[in-house]
Amino acid sequence: MKVIMLGAPGAGKGTQAVRVAAAYQIPHISTGDIFRANIKGGTELGKKAKTFMDAGKLVPDELVCDLVVDRIQQDDCKNGYVLDGFPRTIPQAEALDAAVAAIGDKVDYAVDIDVPDEEIITRMSGRRACLSCGATYHTKFNPPKAEGVCDTCGAALVLRDDDKPETVRTRLNVYHEQTQPLIDYYNGKGILVTVDGTQNMDKVFSDIKEKLGE
Ligand code: AP5
Ligand code: MG
Ligand code: ZN
Repeated sequence: MKVIMLGAPGAGKGTQAVRVAAAYQIPHISTGDIFRANIKGGTELGKKAKTFMDAGKLVPDELVCDLVVDRIQQDDCKNGYVLDGFPRTIPQAEALDAAVAAIGDKVDYAVDIDVPDEEIITRMSGRRACLSCGATYHTKFNPPKAEGVCDTCGAALVLRDDDKPETVRTRLNVYHEQTQPLIDYYNGKGILVTVDGTQNMDKVFSDIKEKLGE
């Protein structure tokens, strides 16, 4: 199964993508996590991506598309994958379509997790991220077992550089301008499913599973 997670920053794409990956036994591919790992590792890609990310802007398409197209051609993607944070622009969606069409395949579902902007701002200030394994927590809605420590890998949790309220507002604007058009794009292809992302995490996940079936 090939699934795309759509939704505003903080809608819960990462939270739900991890669950989808586990339930359907497919890899979870997050472009944000890939960039953050590159920033942490001090790579050229990381250096280029950091200025855009810290400003709440999108990394240019040419730095993203090849990276994802390469990734989905790896062996572990044979039975599908869940893409989290990609595509985010129409050109990215077209690049993905071309890559899957080239192997005679198609994307099965684009899941839009719908959350209004006001709720996003409150959520982001409580988010804590593990930059080692990509796990995501929330101080109130999903706290780690020990404060400030990742349950999965034991690394220290951080507030992401782009989660400051003013940067979150920029990210929301960028989302409405550049990413929201993808909702119509996938609706037009007949593969859009929408879930109410304001419900608790378990309910959001059961709604997603119900719509994806199997
Ligand atoms: P990315 O890392 O993808 O960030 P994003 O889209 O802004 O989304 P987030 O990761 O912030 O939110 P999420 O939807 O995953 O929510 P989460 O599950 O964490 O991208 C970062 C940057 O990288 C971009 O700004 C851009 O610069 C660059 N980039 C990445 N991909 C790119 C691309 N394709 N093209 C160009 N640039 C790209 O949940 C949020 C919080 O809410 C957590 O604390 C969580 O615990 C909590 N929560 C989740 N669900 C619920 C719920 N149901 N109820 C209550 N709390 C909840
Ligand atoms: Mg995320
Ligand atoms: Zn971790």
